[in-house]
Amino acid sequence: MQHLVDTNDFNDKQLIQIMNDARAFKIKMPSRLLQDKLFVTLFFENSTRTRSSFEVAAKRLGASIVHLDPSKSSTNKGESLEDTFENLAAMEPDGVIIRHEFNNTPKKLAKKGLTPIINAGAGNTAHPTQALLDCFTIMEHFNLTSPHELKGKTIAIVGDIVSSRVASSGIRLFTRLGLNVVLVAPQPFMPKNDLPKYENLADVIDNVDVIMSLRAQLERHKAPIFEDYDEYAKEYCITKERMAQRDILLLHPGPVMRNIDISDEMLEDKRSKVLEQVKNGVYVRMAILKLVLES
Ligand code: CP
Repeated sequence: MQHLVDTNDFNDKQLIQIMNDARAFKIKMPSRLLQDKLFVTLFFENSTRTRSSFEVAAKRLGASIVHLDPSKSSTNKGESLEDTFENLAAMEPDGVIIRHEFNNTPKKLAKKGLTPIINAGAGNTAHPTQALLDCFTIMEHFNLTSPHELKGKTIAIVGDIVSSRVASSGIRLFTRLGLNVVLVAPQPFMPKNDLPKYENLADVIDNVDVIMSLRAQLERHKAPIFEDYDEYAKEYCITKERMAQRDILLLHPGPVMRNIDISDEMLEDKRSKVLEQVKNGVYVRMAILKLVLES
């Protein structure tokens, strides 16, 4: 049974297939490849992009989606996550797409082997479909046909890296593909790992092809880290002044904290591909649903 707990669940051949299928879907919408298939979405944390993107992707392929809202479910009567999942799996869906606050939830449910699990974001550890759509967006920008052609490009991840599942999955996928990943953050937002680290973007900006800006994930901070995010923004907000005329692709997984992560002006700049990421998210998730069911 094929799951997507993190991107390492896909081998190189499958990664290439996802990128090829997503590109083909973007050029021409496919026929109803997944007609009669049914997915369940189970989001224990808020989402705008990922949940709706999966729903659009499934419907574009002719599949049906049932959404269980945990706030209105029997979770509120004390039913455990495992029991909730096993009851949903008993209805024989073709896969469950889950977002949860705990890092190990998708893996734990996948181990039950009841139905394919697609991780739509778990704690601060994994958001594989975001990493895959980011990979697709970078490939598209540089006109590359294989993810392995990304080797040698340099991406700077800027912001609250330690709290970010987007960064966690991105770092694993990008380093696997041979990208140089550099981290730019104030000390409290910096994770512990062996990657090159900078406190100031100015020290590395001339050497990067891509900047991925990240939101300060206030909901994951046990206590406030900065009192004043306007002060933080003076150092880390991606502005036109900071980018100057450099030919750098600017990404952000969303939601963007305007004028803290990226300035209003820079979001309008053609180097910013934030909404293109969202558009690509549908094609990449279509490719993922197809692959999971084909496997
Ligand atoms: N990028 C992302 O995960 O956005 P949502 O939280 O809105 O799904």
